[in-house]
Amino acid sequence: MTDAAGLLAGKVMLVTGASSGIGAAAARVAARNGAALVLMARRLPRLEELAEGLRAEGAEVACAGGDVTSSDDVERAVRLAVDRYGRLDAAFNNAGTTTEPALLHETDDADFDTVLDVNLRGVWLCLKHQIGAMLATGTGGAIVNNSSIAGVRATSAGAPYVAAKHAVLGLTKTAAAQYAAHGIRVNALATGLTRSEMSEGVFARDPAAEERMRRRNPQGRVADPEEVAQAAVWLCSDQASFVTGATMAVDGGAGAW
Ligand SMILES: NC(=O)c1ccc[n+]([C@@H]2O[C@H](COP(=O)([O-])OP(=O)(O)OC[C@H]3O[C@@H](n4cnc5c(N)ncnc54)[C@H](OP(=O)(O)O)[C@@H]3O)[C@@H](O)[C@H]2O)c1
Repeated sequence: MTDAAGLLAGKVMLVTGASSGIGAAAARVAARNGAALVLMARRLPRLEELAEGLRAEGAEVACAGGDVTSSDDVERAVRLAVDRYGRLDAAFNNAGTTTEPALLHETDDADFDTVLDVNLRGVWLCLKHQIGAMLATGTGGAIVNNSSIAGVRATSAGAPYVAAKHAVLGLTKTAAAQYAAHGIRVNALATGLTRSEMSEGVFARDPAAEERMRRRNPQGRVADPEEVAQAAVWLCSDQASFVTGATMAVDGGAGAW
């Protein structure tokens, strides 16, 4: 897939959940578009391996192993961007998780806590520290939160996931409204079914799911992670300068019918 040249040239971007799937693709697309990067996830060796490849292609990349549910870890990742590159211009808050879907009344309390912790609290902590850093340098910025098609309607992913992804849109809109005057834009992706470790896990548990989901999608297929990454990078770029508080569907038309 071709990139518009250098959409993020000169920008410093933090990508969470960069050790696989959509986050790793976002790191690759952002690097190709000229961003200096900080990559965050718990599996540091996976980040280092990705970073090594991107550096070989000329990108500046730093890695922050850490958990998005830890305020200290998130703060450390943001501080790494500021210490290393002088500021933070952009962030893709993409780290997320899922658990075995179940009917609401049969869902484990622990699964609810896990999903809400990572998918909602994690995004909240990222926004908090990233916006703090952007305000401190006074340079504005652009943040994209990876919600889901489950952020705009119920899906088979289960109540905790659907609730957390809806709530991410609430955070996105609030942050967009509160910080627009400071030159900070905040948007979300309503991402459809995408090939990744997460979706492979769903297909492994329920082999018929892929075919069922393909049939429900107007494009009849699952997204490549780079297709989602391209949207995140565009929203982080100055080409999206009047876009804030928005939810962009990247779902092959699944949300349209
Ligand atoms: N794939 C889909 O069909 C789909 C559809 C809609 C939305 N999404 C959303 O897209 C995002 C990325 O998912 P993916 O599909 O690319 O799945 P994935 O390949 O499983 O990636 C998930 C990423 O999140 C990281 N992560 C999970 N828990 C974390 C934590 N506590 N702290 C830090 N990082 C954590 C993982 O890294 P570590 O394990 O190394 O920490 C990994 O890099 C998620 O928010 C997901 O909800 C996916």
